Amino acid sequence: MIHISSEDSRDIFTLETKSTGYVFQVTKYGHLEHIYYGSKLTHYDLDGLCRKRKVVIGSSIVYHPDDPLYCLDMFPLEWSGIGRGDYRFSPAEIKMPDGSFVSDFIYKNHKIHEGCVPSDKLPTAYKGESGIKTLEILLEDNCTQVELTLFYTVFEESNVISRRVILTNHNPSPLTIRRLMSMCVDLPNQNFRMITFDGGWIKETHRHDHPLRHGMVVNSSTTGGSSNRHNPGFLLASSDSSENQGDVYGFNLIYSGNHIGCAQLSDRQLVRICLGINPHCFEWTLRQGESFETPEAVMTYSASGFNGMSQNFHNFINHHIIRGEWKGKERPVLINNWEAHFFKFNQRKLLRLARRAKKLGVELFVLDDGWFGKRNNDHAGLGDYTVNRKKLPQGLNHFSKRLKKLGLAFGLWFEPEMVNPDSDLFRNHPEYAVTLPGRESTLGRNQLVLDLCNPKVRDYIVTSVSQILDDADISYVKWDMNRHISEAFSPCLENQGEFFHRYILGLYDILTRIFGPRPHILLESCSSGGNRFDLGLLCYSPQIWASDDTDPVERLNIVSGLSYLYPLSTIGAHVSEVPHQQTLRETPLSTRFNVSCFGCLGYEMDLKYLSPVEKKEIKEQIAFYKQHRKTFQYGTFSRIETGKANKVQWQCLYHDKSKAVTGFFQTQSIASEAPDLLRIIGLDPLRRYDIRTKPQRLFIKRFGGLVKHILPIELNPNGLILRLVNRHYALPDCVEHYRVGGDTLEKGIFLNDQFMGSYYNPQTRLLGDFGSNLYVIESEVQQ
Ligand code: GLA
Repeated sequence: MIHISSEDSRDIFTLETKSTGYVFQVTKYGHLEHIYYGSKLTHYDLDGLCRKRKVVIGSSIVYHPDDPLYCLDMFPLEWSGIGRGDYRFSPAEIKMPDGSFVSDFIYKNHKIHEGCVPSDKLPTAYKGESGIKTLEILLEDNCTQVELTLFYTVFEESNVISRRVILTNHNPSPLTIRRLMSMCVDLPNQNFRMITFDGGWIKETHRHDHPLRHGMVVNSSTTGGSSNRHNPGFLLASSDSSENQGDVYGFNLIYSGNHIGCAQLSDRQLVRICLGINPHCFEWTLRQGESFETPEAVMTYSASGFNGMSQNFHNFINHHIIRGEWKGKERPVLINNWEAHFFKFNQRKLLRLARRAKKLGVELFVLDDGWFGKRNNDHAGLGDYTVNRKKLPQGLNHFSKRLKKLGLAFGLWFEPEMVNPDSDLFRNHPEYAVTLPGRESTLGRNQLVLDLCNPKVRDYIVTSVSQILDDADISYVKWDMNRHISEAFSPCLENQGEFFHRYILGLYDILTRIFGPRPHILLESCSSGGNRFDLGLLCYSPQIWASDDTDPVERLNIVSGLSYLYPLSTIGAHVSEVPHQQTLRETPLSTRFNVSCFGCLGYEMDLKYLSPVEKKEIKEQIAFYKQHRKTFQYGTFSRIETGKANKVQWQCLYHDKSKAVTGFFQTQSIASEAPDLLRIIGLDPLRRYDIRTKPQRLFIKRFGGLVKHILPIELNPNGLILRLVNRHYALPDCVEHYRVGGDTLEKGIFLNDQFMGSYYNPQTRLLGDFGSNLYVIESEVQQ
């Protein structure tokens, strides 16, 4: 809902979602003054909410001689320029047509659009439901004929408001943009922490809290992608906020390139939030009549802590970002052959893996890297998308038919934005690669980046990938991108300051041209894992491979971090072999599944080496996942505070509250630990619920030498007999059953005690290091 009212001839704009309100007004000199962002207000007094201006603060710049109290530095603003008295971080640094950097954008008029106002080059959120409106506000720099249009779109149900701007030059002289943010807002400080999600390869999106002090906290990427260093999404949380209470604001950007987000605390205790394209190496010239549009930024607020904030974002992404045939659709359980084979495979090996996977309940077979050109390691072949006949003698079409016969869909890996110097593509078209004449190129994973600013390169990628997709029956694509950009330069550009942004526009153009006409294909984006997990790519790819780290203990951190910003329906999560390739850690098969089922489940292992009893376990895991898939992928997800450093708990609630599933994970065992509490949130306190552990196996080898205490005869724990028994037989892991209702659910249920070395019976929980359980909570009425 958008209301516009007038008080003392000032226009006041109120944007309302289901539970939030956002208010700003036009000041007497035409600036946009931010007034309020928080819980929806029912009755309010505007003057009470406004900051007072009753004194002049020494050394401040007075905007107008008739009004000594009007100093821009003191205002909470919706936008600000440079050189008119506001010395905070400016959302725009523009070399204006008069040659100066001074800009002052003044309100001219506004209009309201039904739905969203889409962009023709950049991905944006879309309408998806009725009741969505966009407020367009036109501002002008009176001295230079430069216009700035601000867009605010209100997504009522998701409690999200999006913002972006378009800058237009009407002046006969050109202007140069050095920085243009998508949004700017000044919020009153509440002892905020800024929370960012940072990391690197195999350790993406770890949460970091930065208390705000005077000055600026910056969250940015300069790698050419949204990056695994700093995800573009970040939060602002009041000092008393926790998972279920307190004021939390969330911000994110629908963009896959270099981004910057910052929170700057001023001496007036205002926090300026800006978010947009990173000005790093950015420069864009606008001649008369030309415009530049920024990506769309999104913001949300919740008074119910981090979970409330993330549930808003989850709802928004599932309804206004993910589009096409895969919107709201359950994702298939897949097997990916990468960790099983790397580059060493042939059709026989692949089909054997496929047959085994099918028997376990897998629905989609994904052939990863190594199927094309001379791609037998990562030194050669990228760019040459012709099938390697030594590995697949009858080609992809034949292979896809064989899979179809087995009852499996076929998915294929590509890395289309890249080229190896050792490839036919590079030998024939060295000019397609991003290189800088006169400077030696730096490689990443033995490869160069293709120049997506060049239309010929884009055509090459569109044609070669499309041909493959049309040749075989492909229903899934994994689109990889395995290095950062260096020596950024394109001979196609006059102004190299455009490079990074044009690269991303080129990427969006390619994705639109390949996948627009093929909406049945499920696209999973990947960039060495989560090097480009962002809302821009989610507009094309409904799921993203979160990390090359498949160790579930690491994934607890990675997925927890991602879950603040993105729903589980977008997070690719695989069960892999032990010891894990990234950490050499041994984790139980149950925990590998119990973590991966919170997301889009896959298996990435050589099934040949599974024992019969492990196969049984996996078959049951997949059946269980299918039964609860909708709850895992689309249920209401919460991170539950366990009060213990060695425990993580996640929960997914079915939409009608009739059931929930919760995962309880122990990262490290502690001797003689105090009892664990299992809390279930969001269920109906008037109903009674049945809480049962998902049955899982306890493999005998886990007991090592202890096994002699539970066997009637003494056997060598490393001997042949026990090794054989371990392949065919496992103990049932502790079976728990609780019946509770009312407030007990949220207060918590004390779980059975854990094994403490002195006693064991079938009710003893045996978690050890990295142990976990899934609990299914079902309403008794339903049974
Ligand atoms: C990247 C991806 C992996 C795998 C390899 C193949 O590292 O993140 O999942 O596809 O490339 O080379």
